[in-house]
Amino acid sequence: MYKRKNILKIAIDSPAAAGAGTLARNISKNYNLFYLDTGKIYRYIAYLKLKFPKKFNNTFIKSKIRNLKIKDLSNKNLLSDEVGTEASIISKKKSIRKMIHSFQLNFAYNPPKKYNGSCLDGRDITYNIVPDANFKFYITANVKTRALRRYRELKKLKKKVTYKEVLKSIKKRDKSDQNRSISPLKKTKDSLLINTTNLNKRACFLKIKKIIDGKIKN
Ligand code: C5P
Repeated sequence: MYKRKNILKIAIDSPAAAGAGTLARNISKNYNLFYLDTGKIYRYIAYLKLKFPKKFNNTFIKSKIRNLKIKDLSNKNLLSDEVGTEASIISKKKSIRKMIHSFQLNFAYNPPKKYNGSCLDGRDITYNIVPDANFKFYITANVKTRALRRYRELKKLKKKVTYKEVLKSIKKRDKSDQNRSISPLKKTKDSLLINTTNLNKRACFLKIKKIIDGKIKN
């Protein structure tokens, strides 16, 4: 695979609803990086499984991945809790992770020329997808805070859910993502821990920006 040289690569791992997506988007905008929320790829596959249960096999998934466009990942249907839960189930399959591996690598190492680099967030980015990233972060927050944030997001989308249901589903997803045998969510030794429980979006962004600027300018 062709790899662009001298690009800035940022890798982020985080449990669900820790604020990593917003942060990664803001960081990408600031440093002009190509941004990929890798959870959306798993959500997209989960959505296909729920929508086309009879067609759902490896050949079907492969053809969908081959033709996958970034805009397919902004489909609002991918945001539901049902799709998130299903994503956590299908993401345990080795064959599925293998199918989207090169899509993620190409995104990370070969972003379009107009970008200075790439920023990916997910569960296994810091040690599996972009192990040589210039910056690695593990973004987390207290589970109740994360559930409240996700609950508010879902309410904004007019989804019928209760806070209790969201909390239960996030706890279940944490357990499943952290304890699976393949590519589990973990904080690597070389990742910087950022706890967003008591930080607003701006404060999180400034904290990370300070770390990156401090290293880039030296
Ligand atoms: O980040 P998000 O909550 O949208 O991810 C949905 C699910 O996709 C996660 O709970 C996880 O099981 C899976 N995922 C993964 N590896 C990634 C990103 C997401 O297994 N790199």
